[in-house]
Amino acid sequence: MDKRLIGPDMNKTILIPVENAEITRSDLLRKNLLDGSRKIKLTWLKGKRFLEIPVKPDVEGYTVIEQDAPEYYGKWQSLKDRLEGIIPSAELEYVPSGWQLIGDVIIISISQEIDSRKTETAIAKSLLKMYPRCKSVIRDFGIRGQFREPNRKIIIGDKVETIHKEHKCLFRMDVTKIMYSKGNLPERKRMSKVGSGEIVVDMFAGIGYFSIPMGVHAKPEQVIAIELNPVSYGYLCENIKLNHVGNIVKPINGDCAEVTPQGVADRVIMGYVGVTHHYLKQGIRAIKKSGGVLHYHETTPESLLFNRPVSRIRDAARAAGRKVEIMECRRIKKYSPGVWHVVVDARIQ
Ligand SMILES: C[S@@+](CC[C@H](N)C(=O)[O-])C[C@H]1O[C@@H](n2cnc3c(N)ncnc32)[C@H](O)[C@@H]1O
Repeated sequence: MDKRLIGPDMNKTILIPVENAEITRSDLLRKNLLDGSRKIKLTWLKGKRFLEIPVKPDVEGYTVIEQDAPEYYGKWQSLKDRLEGIIPSAELEYVPSGWQLIGDVIIISISQEIDSRKTETAIAKSLLKMYPRCKSVIRDFGIRGQFREPNRKIIIGDKVETIHKEHKCLFRMDVTKIMYSKGNLPERKRMSKVGSGEIVVDMFAGIGYFSIPMGVHAKPEQVIAIELNPVSYGYLCENIKLNHVGNIVKPINGDCAEVTPQGVADRVIMGYVGVTHHYLKQGIRAIKKSGGVLHYHETTPESLLFNRPVSRIRDAARAAGRKVEIMECRRIKKYSPGVWHVVVDARIQ
């Protein structure tokens, strides 16, 4: 399958029983929500005939799924195809096959082999032709520092602040200052399904990656969202308003090593990487005496999976005189060669 588009919103499709397909198709056509670049396909589900109707990203009111094998009308031109004859042929092999759409901004990592401004601009212009609703293209050089800030530069356009829509949640951010990991999407969705009626402490909240989906979908009693970086904290506050969860999510601008409340939480999210274990003491101490769940994230070399994160939790709990039951160990995404971003769910008693 010609893997061209990365990102969660380019192969959206709705699945409709054949008998209701025409009404739905004309309704979507009327609302200009059909994605005319892909073919409507027949598929079978549990012995019943369905049509996969390709749609644009933001369709409300239908069950939207990712189309496994989209079929395109005419010859779909990949980015590389579009740049043939426009950039030096020697550089074509370095043209990326993947990019990310955050709101109406395109984020692209381009190999260092391509350093000419001319080629960079040609790549960006082609991307804007592929995504006419996007306003700017930004080159990504990676994430750095305690605040996990992206190192990025604008290639075309001047729009860097955008609103990204995901799973019925809105995230405002300046993509030159704030990271947004597409690889964490499944974990964001998972966190949106837990916490109902609970007191939750999100120790590394960022712009609300977990706190917002949880507030919007799971309706906890309260989410205490702690963020140290004043820029991220500013967007966290904005996103709380944007998603109308001000009655649930309480933002705190501070260092979770100092401001994490003690003995209040039914659930604690430690969504950080690299040095998360330095904060395990505070994470465990935040959990109610009656017990609760800890979601402990870390970046772990393949060879230490899952012993290291598990033993770190056990050691910290023992030091706090608490019992641990390891509930689940999950790989979230490949972090770097041989290293995984993982999460361990543990019940702390
Ligand atoms: C990048 S986010 C985490 C990503 C998020 N879990 C996700 O799923 O995409 C980590 C956040 O923790 C914040 N942070 C780092 N150290 C912190 C600390 N000691 N206390 C509170 N927040 C902290 C960073 O500023 C950053 O916004």
